[in-house]
Amino acid sequence: MRTSGPDTVDLVLCGGIVVTPDGMREGAVAVDQGKILALGSDAAMPPARQRIDVDGLHIIPGAIDVHVHFREPGFSYKETWATATAAAAIGGVTTVFDMPNTNPPTATPEAVRQKIAIASSQALVDFGIYGYVGEGNVDQLAAMAEAGAVAFKLYLGSDNPLVPCPNDGAVLDALSAIASLGLRCTTHAENTPILNWRGARLKADGRQDLAAHLEQHSDMATVEAVSRIALFSEWTGCPIHIAHENCRHSLPLIADAKRRGVNLTAETCPHYLFLSMDDAELAGGNALRVKPPVREAGHAKPLWDALKSGVIDMISTDHAPHARAEKLRSSIWDVAPGFPGVETSMRLMLNEVSKGRLSLPEYVRMACEAPARAFGLYPRKGSLQPGSDADIVVVDLAKSAVIRGTELQSLGNVTPFEGRQTIGAPVMTILRGMIVARYGHLVARPGIGQPVGQTPKGRS
Ligand code: DOR
Ligand code: ZN
Repeated sequence: MRTSGPDTVDLVLCGGIVVTPDGMREGAVAVDQGKILALGSDAAMPPARQRIDVDGLHIIPGAIDVHVHFREPGFSYKETWATATAAAAIGGVTTVFDMPNTNPPTATPEAVRQKIAIASSQALVDFGIYGYVGEGNVDQLAAMAEAGAVAFKLYLGSDNPLVPCPNDGAVLDALSAIASLGLRCTTHAENTPILNWRGARLKADGRQDLAAHLEQHSDMATVEAVSRIALFSEWTGCPIHIAHENCRHSLPLIADAKRRGVNLTAETCPHYLFLSMDDAELAGGNALRVKPPVREAGHAKPLWDALKSGVIDMISTDHAPHARAEKLRSSIWDVAPGFPGVETSMRLMLNEVSKGRLSLPEYVRMACEAPARAFGLYPRKGSLQPGSDADIVVVDLAKSAVIRGTELQSLGNVTPFEGRQTIGAPVMTILRGMIVARYGHLVARPGIGQPVGQTPKGRS
């Protein structure tokens, strides 16, 4: 074995199967100064300060989750950047994009800077910060981008006073501004008046059950908002990302807009792919409440088909943890919507790989490459090409385990996947060449995560 010399690199992962969206090849990855240096056969690798034989396991790029709610500032009793990024690291996610419904909301340049400072001090993975789009800050969007916002979030469906739904005139102005910044606007596509009207009627009728939440969030609330935002995107040229696709009736609208050349991308989440109202009992009853809702059986299969065919581009999680007491209230209107997801998503998807429903290259396309491409990070992120950031995950397709909320890193750990067995799991997560998690344990210090939109700390 050669000793450290001028050609010695930082790290070689050898004896693996390297996966890209195009296929899989036995071999190794060499890493130096935080970047992928080379891919090739074990024998072709340079000497390394650390050489890890992964013993036949698969090597994929770190996953990118463009939809998480990490709660700070303002809601640290639900989650912190330290706990959430620990969950991400163990879950094989090396880049996250955080949503602006914190307190204060990420609606000003100052709030963007504040969130970047909070995240930088705690994060174990790299991160992007969303800026909120509202009626009051259209003239500040450019300054928010300057402050480091990597994308924007538009709530077309919202009853949250921190992040209200702007009127359509403000939306059009905002989209024109975002188009000129060259950024993408992620949209919660539901029609607020439909939600408000139906919600008031259902409450007046005394309904308090989970099905009432689904009735409130009519298919039409999603269909109308997807249709409107596709039109607005076409009109303004603003790249739009449709968050949490949940409804089969809106899929033809997305496919059609894409065919017309509209710059639209879309995501769906594990809870829409793996759960339906038929699973409500097993998934925790009212705790299944999430916005948009998990719908009747019959939506998941078309969502899967859309994900496989590329109509839906990527998988995200909408990681939205809440305190246990907030999830377990008896009236559905009082149950906090959402649940953690960033730690369990890769396991749930790899379970489908182990069942043969999905190939590993397909998974890499939808979890790594597609989000990087949509948000301008490719090929720095989401790829194992030479020159890319060395964000790497080693996965064991045979590793079997059961999801237990109390074993998750998140503070808010009520999960609708409680008790679910998965086969396939990330076993090592590497961020820019640094090992962050290994076999479910953290091996890095908080604060190594960096904002993705800025010059990395300590480098020119
Ligand atoms: O279920 C949800 N939870 N949907 C949202 O849009 C927000 C999220 C949260 O922040 O809790
Ligand atoms: Zn969300």
